[in-house]
Parts: sequence; structure tokens; C-alpha cells
Amino acid sequence: MKINSNFLQLKDSYLFATVGRKTAEYKRAHPDKEVIRLSIGDVTRPLAPAVIAAMHKAVEELAHPETFKGYGPDQYCYAYDALLDTILASYARKGITLEKGEVFVSDGAKSDCGNILDIFSVDNTVLVPDPVYPVYLDTNVMAGRKILFADANEQNGFLPMPDEGVKADIIYLCSPNNPTGAAYTREQLRAWVDYARKNDAVILYDAAYEYFVADERCARSIYQVEGAKECAIELCSYSKTAGFTGVRCGYTIVPEALVREGTSLNRLWARRQSTKFNGVSYITQMGAAAVFTPEGEREIGENIDYYRENAKIISECLDGLGIWYTGGKNSPYIWMKCPNGMTSWEFFDYLLQNAQVVGTPGSGFGANGEGFFRLTAFGTHENTRRACERIRALLKK
Ligand code: MLT
Repeated sequence: MKINSNFLQLKDSYLFATVGRKTAEYKRAHPDKEVIRLSIGDVTRPLAPAVIAAMHKAVEELAHPETFKGYGPDQYCYAYDALLDTILASYARKGITLEKGEVFVSDGAKSDCGNILDIFSVDNTVLVPDPVYPVYLDTNVMAGRKILFADANEQNGFLPMPDEGVKADIIYLCSPNNPTGAAYTREQLRAWVDYARKNDAVILYDAAYEYFVADERCARSIYQVEGAKECAIELCSYSKTAGFTGVRCGYTIVPEALVREGTSLNRLWARRQSTKFNGVSYITQMGAAAVFTPEGEREIGENIDYYRENAKIISECLDGLGIWYTGGKNSPYIWMKCPNGMTSWEFFDYLLQNAQVVGTPGSGFGANGEGFFRLTAFGTHENTRRACERIRALLKK
């Protein structure tokens, strides 16, 4: 028996687990101090009333033999028409036409970011931005793929552009970006689509934060760029859009037009999903189906505005302190430069010890994240304001 020794190449623990452990240690040592977490991007607003009502209705249906549901329909990998219709309608509002068979409902973008790799050879070279959401990197380390990094830094506004000198087969892009909050314009994405088509590469485009886009020049979907259906898979999530971090639901778009080595990637993914996945629960699917209805969209819009207000509170705090940052405008993440030349973990400790505020050290997202720090706008207004007051009091000294 041999283990998958690629796992031994990973860091000991997942970034957010390390942040959680350090926070818990501090709390044990200082039980009298109240710690405010602006670290992991977990939502705090309750689900929209339209979602709750749809879930209640679904529960009631499961209680009666006439309306009971077992496995979902197998035509679309266990996704119900009612949900697929709303997803297609939401794309249509962005000017994008999709077929039901191109939409795969999942238990979230994080799982699919890793699972999608099943359909690609381990011999492919992967390009990930640095800094990066750790899932893209770690899942490819687990598989033993060769990984290259696209430098994101202060000079390019943390939005790396393609380098013709680099040959990559699989490219991860996330916009609005986690962790930096920077968002590509459609024009910038066009350069990535052109690169992928020229190099026969496939872009894995993580659009988990698209509902936070406020600037009309920025993309809500990679398919807003012509030609993207021939080179990109899009991963979407209800987590940040509709507060489903605990409920779990997302969807992955694999266009029919995406063909490599004469093989449809849509067929491969459908085959993979029907073998390894039995679909998302009926209750969850019905809740998700309420999200992109007029009522649902109005209600989730209120929650997103709530988080936007937090992002504004944090941005204004940093503006007042004269600290450089990206994000906060089209994103719930604010990516700030650590003050006084501190490293990311030095600033993490300094902020925890002196202000009892927890953020995420930028270096945990990659070498280029060193000296940066991520704050999230997913807290409550009250905690966000109090955290900012503490940060202001600490750093203006
Ligand atoms: C984050 O804080 O980066 C996110 O919550 C992680 C995730 O969505 O998995």
C-alpha cells in the first residue's frame, strides 16, 4: 500500500484552520477579551425570507407520499428544472444564453474547484495567481501537477495579465478576487480568453463574488467575453450571493462548445458527476431556486448592500489612516498593506494582541501576499464598526 505522497508537499494545515487555531489559543489565554473576527469570509446575515419560505414548502412536500422526492432527476445530474430555469434566467439578464445541460448544480464552488480536476490529465501545467485562494493550489498539489504562478502585486493592482512567454494548460482566475478584492474588467478578461484560445488552455473561472460587482466595466461572468465558451468553465456559488455558506449550493457551467482533443468536456464532467455525486438535497435546491426570482433578488440585494456598507466602513477607516489597499468596491474583501513594514503574521499577532481583531495574513495566500492582510466585510455592522474603531485607535498612534 502506498499513500498519495503529494499530500506530504502540502502545508500542515489549511490557512483558515491555522487562523482559527491561533485565535482559539488567544481566547483561552485571555478569556476576558472580546475578539472580533474579520477573517474567514463567512456570512452573518440570515437567509432571505423567500429562500426560507421555499425551503419550508419543500420540507412539507417531503412529508407526504404524494409529493415526496427521492433522488433528483438524472437528466441534468440530479438538478431540478425549477432551479435550472432560474440559473438560466439569471445568465440571460447578463446577456448570456446557456442550455440546461451546460449547468451542473453542486454543493458549492469550493468542492467543484477541486473536483473538476478529475477531467484533466495530471500532465497539464497549471497557472494560478499569487496570492491565491488556497484551494486552487492545494488541490493541484494533491494531484501532483506542475504549478506556475502569475505574479499579482501592487504594481499591477493585484490583477496579473497573461504572459505570452508562459505555457499553461489550466488557468485559475477569480474575479472579484479572493483574497485581494480586485476585479477584472471585461477588456482585461478578453486578454486571458485570447491567451487560452491561442494556447489551447482551459480557464477555470471562479465567479463566487460576482454579485458584489458595482463597476459596470467589470465582468459578472467570463461568458460576457466573446469566445469564452470555447475555453472556460465557470464556478459559481450561492454562499456569498445568498448566504448559503452553511446550506451548501453552487453551480458549474461547462459549455457544450468546450472541446479538447476532440472530446466534449461537458460530457466528461457529466460522466464524472453522475458517478461520484448524487446531487444536492431537494430542500436546498428549492431554497436556491428562490434566490434568482424577483423577490429573492430584491432580498439578497439588501444583504449584499449590508455587506457593501461594511466594506465602505473598513475602506474609510484605512483611507483615514493613509493605508494602501485594494478591494472593498466590487468585493467583500479588503486587501491592505501591513503598516510599518510588518510581515503578514507579525501584523496578525499585533492586531490580535492589541485590538483583539482577527484578519487573514496575506502570506497565507502566497509569497506575493507577504506584507499584506485581508479583512472581510461579512461581519455585522456593529462588529465592523467596533473593529474599525479599535484599528484606528491602535494605528493612528
Ligand atoms: C474565504 O474566507 O476565503 C472563504 O470563506 C473561503 C471559502 O469560500 O471557502
